[in-house]
Amino acid sequence: MDVLTRLTAHRIIPVVVLPSAESAGPLGEALVAGGLPVAEVTFRTAAAAQAIAALAARGDILVGAGTVLTRQQVDQAVQAGAQYIVSPGSSRAVIEHARAAGVPVVPGAVTATEIQAALELGIDLVKFFPAEACGGAGAVRALAAPFAGVRFVPTGGVSPANLGQYLAIKAVAAVGGSWMVPQSAIAAGDFAAIERLTSQAVALAAGSAADVAAGGAAGGAAATGNAAASAAQTAAAITTAATATGREN
Ligand code: 3PG
Repeated sequence: MDVLTRLTAHRIIPVVVLPSAESAGPLGEALVAGGLPVAEVTFRTAAAAQAIAALAARGDILVGAGTVLTRQQVDQAVQAGAQYIVSPGSSRAVIEHARAAGVPVVPGAVTATEIQAALELGIDLVKFFPAEACGGAGAVRALAAPFAGVRFVPTGGVSPANLGQYLAIKAVAAVGGSWMVPQSAIAAGDFAAIERLTSQAVALAAGSAADVAAGGAAGGAAATGNAAASAAQTAAAITTAATATGREN
């Protein structure tokens, strides 16, 4: 299975901002224990490359680099052991450099023109960022119609409350988000909270998958309604937990 298939199979990609590489070890433990052995470590801090190296060295986490804006950051990420590159937008330079380095890249695209440009560069998995500000699930659904082969990773404003809306869209391969790795918990060393939020996120994604399967197989409005109600209850509980932990990423 290739890297992007393995990545999207998790359905949720934690977007991590680490102020120092020391947090990488316990963060990795928390993600693995929470059932989500994936991390997109953003180049928003100087600790990114070192944190990627620390997570990659574990061998049990699919670690990538996020917020990659330049060729130089591609090099730093790949040297540190990043297995994939994520960009907020589509840069031909970043895409071609990552490809030359043998590492898959997920660039950002939120308009039909951007998606078409990405397709011309051989990209068929795009980060839909910032998802909520750019029209949310409705926009993804509308864009998926003309671009049949394109799959999306909506990121930016995704939360337990709207996760199900995105994951219900067939063209959505996975969502990205920081709600399960809040900066306040990282700063406080509260990795138990991160493990808890992570396992709740995993449960919610599994619930969404079950809802979609139940709706598709039975087509029963009652079954779908019950599943939606229970997903909404779970989302409300997780939102409360995430708010209590702090969400300022
Ligand atoms: C990103 O870099 O992908 C986003 O900042 C993550 O967005 P979120 O913090 O709203 O989840």
